[in-house]
Amino acid sequence: MKNTPISREIVDEILSKSGIRQLGLASIREIKRLINDIEIASGEEFIRMEMGIPGLPASAIGIDAQIKALQNGCAAIYPDIDGIPELKSEMSLFIKNFLNIDVSPSSCIPTVGSMMGGMAAFMTMSRADKKKDTTLFIDPGFPVQKQQHRVLGLKFETFDVYNFRGEALKGKLESYLKKGNIHSIIYSNPNNPSWICFTDKELQIIGELANQYDVVVLEDLAYFGMDFRNDISQPGKAPFQPTVANYTKNYALLISSSKAFSYAGERIGMLVLSDHLYNREYEDLIPYFGTPLFGRAIIYGTVYAMSSGTSHSAQYALAAILKACNDGSYRFLDDVRIYAKKANMMKKMFTDNNFYIVYDKDEDKPLADGFYFTIAYPNMSGEELLKEFLYYGISAITLSITGSERTEGLRACVSLVPLEQLPLLEKRLQQFKANH
Ligand SMILES: Cc1ncc(COP(=O)(O)O)c(C=O)c1O
Repeated sequence: MKNTPISREIVDEILSKSGIRQLGLASIREIKRLINDIEIASGEEFIRMEMGIPGLPASAIGIDAQIKALQNGCAAIYPDIDGIPELKSEMSLFIKNFLNIDVSPSSCIPTVGSMMGGMAAFMTMSRADKKKDTTLFIDPGFPVQKQQHRVLGLKFETFDVYNFRGEALKGKLESYLKKGNIHSIIYSNPNNPSWICFTDKELQIIGELANQYDVVVLEDLAYFGMDFRNDISQPGKAPFQPTVANYTKNYALLISSSKAFSYAGERIGMLVLSDHLYNREYEDLIPYFGTPLFGRAIIYGTVYAMSSGTSHSAQYALAAILKACNDGSYRFLDDVRIYAKKANMMKKMFTDNNFYIVYDKDEDKPLADGFYFTIAYPNMSGEELLKEFLYYGISAITLSITGSERTEGLRACVSLVPLEQLPLLEKRLQQFKANH
């Protein structure tokens, strides 16, 4: 038996007691619990790469504004369901400044995290056209969005984009769209878990097909601006965050404040509809929402029914953050650039020790460094690697749970790994290599 940083007996005992039936299919939260238990039982710290928590302090501008709003009494009052006016106009400005896209404040809706924005969109889109009852996921993707479909009893289809980059995306997408049952296409960009970023050519393909087949594109920008190969940090100046909104009017954007502003705890995000989608009339919405107008249906039907809007004080926080981004006094991307630095160092440690990066290119360009990366080890499945990592005090999640067909891989998240822990990671990876 080879020497490992954590004893095999301890890991095996905790794993067998954990109730996890198949490690490769365990959810992110189950893995988190398992690692906590192994850390306690062994007294050894893990290199924690399983969960996408920001790992940085929340934006101070947001906290100050939120405290003031609470002191001014906003906690006692229901916020408007569609959001407070100052937030809606800052959202609209932010979209102009950082995406170079025009949307009216009325089409900008704050939600309880972008998690809820997505759910509201799925619930409303699935009622908009009787003939179209299915969401198409361009995978790999964020597993919870599929869980939302399951709990709602909504249909979805999915494919792994790994073999369909560039021009090949067109034929693959069309093979789904031509069936006529798809109402929306969803993907995240930069992508959780693989950190691929669609090129403009790919976004154009998606947008043009959305026009041709009349489907809505739900573009999840949870990692807004974090393709650090292009610096989009200057308000109103090119380059801008790439977006499908340049190629279609049928879009809804999900912009999270969790990662860009490290504001995950307050559960506030942005759902931005195109003005075209907001004003679009779908007769099939009437029985459910009493109106054919998409924008009214999603706000006064779905968001009202789900949560009656989102936290009043957090809306003031987000309004202040966006205002500072818009006037250039807060360079939010400076705060999060550390993720790219860590990813760069960590990826090198893995590849120096026989690992390889699974999703490694955007067409012909090497992938950006950012919040996540994907790794595999020769001749090991993702599940085997995850299990083996437990003995080396390293945690991650399998790509299998993200809709990826790359059964060999794991997703690593850099956010919770402090710079000071990197020498320990390197040592453990060297030991892993020596033992394999
Ligand atoms: C792709 C993606 N979408 C949405 C979310 C959720 O964002 P929020 O915290 O705003 O609900 C995440 C969080 O990890 C994510 O990775």
